[in-house]
Amino acid sequence: MEPTKAKVQVPQIEASQNGPYLVQNLENLKNSKGEQIQTKPMVALCRCGGSANKPFCDGTHAKIGFSGEKITDGANDKRDNYVGKKITIHDNRGICAHQGLCTNGLPTVFRMKTEPWIDPDGAETQAIVDTVRQCPSGALSYSIDGVEHRDQDREPMIVVSKDGPYHVTGAIELRDQSRGEGASSEHYTLCRCGGSKNKPFCDGTHWGIKFKDDKN
Ligand code: SF4
Ligand code: FES
Repeated sequence: MEPTKAKVQVPQIEASQNGPYLVQNLENLKNSKGEQIQTKPMVALCRCGGSANKPFCDGTHAKIGFSGEKITDGANDKRDNYVGKKITIHDNRGICAHQGLCTNGLPTVFRMKTEPWIDPDGAETQAIVDTVRQCPSGALSYSIDGVEHRDQDREPMIVVSKDGPYHVTGAIELRDQSRGEGASSEHYTLCRCGGSKNKPFCDGTHWGIKFKDDKN
């Protein structure tokens, strides 16, 4: 008789209604310093921003009447293409988490207060590729010779970013959620300050409301 194979436990996230993210089978949870945070087969991660035990839920969402509703009108959910000589950069502003990895990393291409804000000829192609691959939200992707590069091959992991969203990588399934145009299902950013209008995704509100998490 064939030995029975152990069932692979696939990680999965569910944004519970007006409550935490229920995360199953996640082994890799890290804080913004790269330190491992201990997990269990099922953990509840805070998404109202109020837990005293971040990143875990402590029930505060119920006390403060947290609403997990998406209230964006979706006007920004549109992909724009910036065609350069060697590379085309795709961008959806409706997905961006506004953490500035692109504008800080390569300001000659990703230009603050300049129109158009992306210059696809503003740096060497490899530098653009390296920067786009760091985009945590999936707002940015690129095409070379007509082939789009969007997802990456990474281990399932959630990183609790510094005073910002959860960075999810490795194609962790997010249950019952529609995504923006051109979004990646391999990497995305989930709001944990409680303030995003595009819940469960981060829309950069954490910066405006000065969300702080000194522990992580
Ligand atoms: S999420 Fe991506 S597009 Fe938005 S600021 Fe960060 S790196 Fe740039
Ligand atoms: S963590 Fe970015 S909007 Fe909430």
